Amino acid sequence: MLDKIQDLLREVDAVVVNSKEDLEKFRLKFISRKGLLNELFDEFKTVPNEQKKAVGQELNKLKNLAEQKLRDFTEALEQSAGSADANKGLDLTLPVAPNFAGTVHPLTLTRQRILEIFARMGFNHEDGPEVETDWYNFTALNFAENHPAREMQDTFFVEKKDVQKDDVLLRTHTSNVQVRLMEHKKPPIRSVMLGRVYRNEAISARAHCQFHQIEGLYVDKNVSFKDLKDTLYHFAKEMFGQDTKIRLRPSYFPFTEPSAEIDISCFICKGSGCNICKHTGWVEIAGSGMVDPNVLENSGIDSEEYTGFAFGMGIERITMLRYGVRDLRLFFENDVRFLRQFEGA
Ligand code: DAH
Repeated sequence: MLDKIQDLLREVDAVVVNSKEDLEKFRLKFISRKGLLNELFDEFKTVPNEQKKAVGQELNKLKNLAEQKLRDFTEALEQSAGSADANKGLDLTLPVAPNFAGTVHPLTLTRQRILEIFARMGFNHEDGPEVETDWYNFTALNFAENHPAREMQDTFFVEKKDVQKDDVLLRTHTSNVQVRLMEHKKPPIRSVMLGRVYRNEAISARAHCQFHQIEGLYVDKNVSFKDLKDTLYHFAKEMFGQDTKIRLRPSYFPFTEPSAEIDISCFICKGSGCNICKHTGWVEIAGSGMVDPNVLENSGIDSEEYTGFAFGMGIERITMLRYGVRDLRLFFENDVRFLRQFEGA
C-alpha cells in the first residue's frame, strides 16, 4: 500500500489543470466521496498495526497535497477568468490618447516670422540691454531734457544719479540699441533689434507694464525715405498678405526727422470697416522716420556723409492682429487653455 500511495503522491504533484473540467476531474478522482483518498482511508483500516504509522504519515501527506492542489488550481482559474472579464471590450488596436507636447508661445511665433522676413532683406539681428542708462534710452536719442516721457509715470527708474544722462532705468523702447550699435559699427548698418521693454502703465486689455518691440535701423550713404517706405511695404505684405497696403501719416519722434506712423490696410474687413480698425479701414503698426542728424552725431557718425531710417513696432500688437487676440494680458498669464490654441501654428 505504501508503494501505491507514493505513486499517487508523484501523480498529484505532477498534475496540471488548465480548465474547470480538468479541475473537476481531479476533484472526482482524488477528493470526492468516492475518490481515491477515501478508498485509501478505507484500505488503511486493514493495514497491520506495525505499519500504520508509516503508511498513515504518507496517506496524510497525499491528502494534504491533493487538497492544497485543489485550492491552488481553483484560485488560479478564478483569477484568469477575472482578467479575461476585464479585458472584455478592450480594443488594443485603438490609438493611445496623445500626450500634449507643448506649444511655441504666440509672441515667439511672431518674433520668428518678423526676424525671418527682415533677415531675407539683409537685416542682421542685434541685442541690447534691458537695464539702460538715460543716455542711450533718451538723451542720445535727442529727447529734450524735460521731455514728458522721462517722467516717473512712464519710466521705471532703477537709480537716480547726479547727472540726468547717467540715470539707470528699464528701457522704455528698443530704440536704446540704435546708438549703442552705431558707436561700435561703421555704416553700412542694417539691423533689427528685438526684445522686452518696460513702461509704468496701468495693466489693461490694451496696455501692460512690459511688452516687446522690434527696432529697425538702416544707415548708409544715400538711404532715403523711399527705402523706408519700400522696406516696410515689403514687410507688411510678407506679414499680413500680398494685397496689404500701407499708409504713412506724419508724426513726431525726437530721434527721427521727418517722422511717420505706418498704418496697414485692415486685413480683416479689407477696408469696409470693423472693430479692429475702428471702422477706418486702417490699423497702425509702427513708428518710423529718417534718423535725426543729432542722433548720428551722438553716435560718432558723420551726418553729412550718411543718412538712415529707423522704425519700431510692438510685437504684441502685431500678434494680436495676426491671431485676433483681444486682450494683451493673455500673453503673460501662461494659461494653457490660451497657449494650446497655437499648437501647430
Ligand atoms: N521708440 C518708439 C516707441 O517706442 C517707436 C519708434 C518710432 C522707433 C520711430 C523708431 C522710430 O525707430 O523711428 O514708441
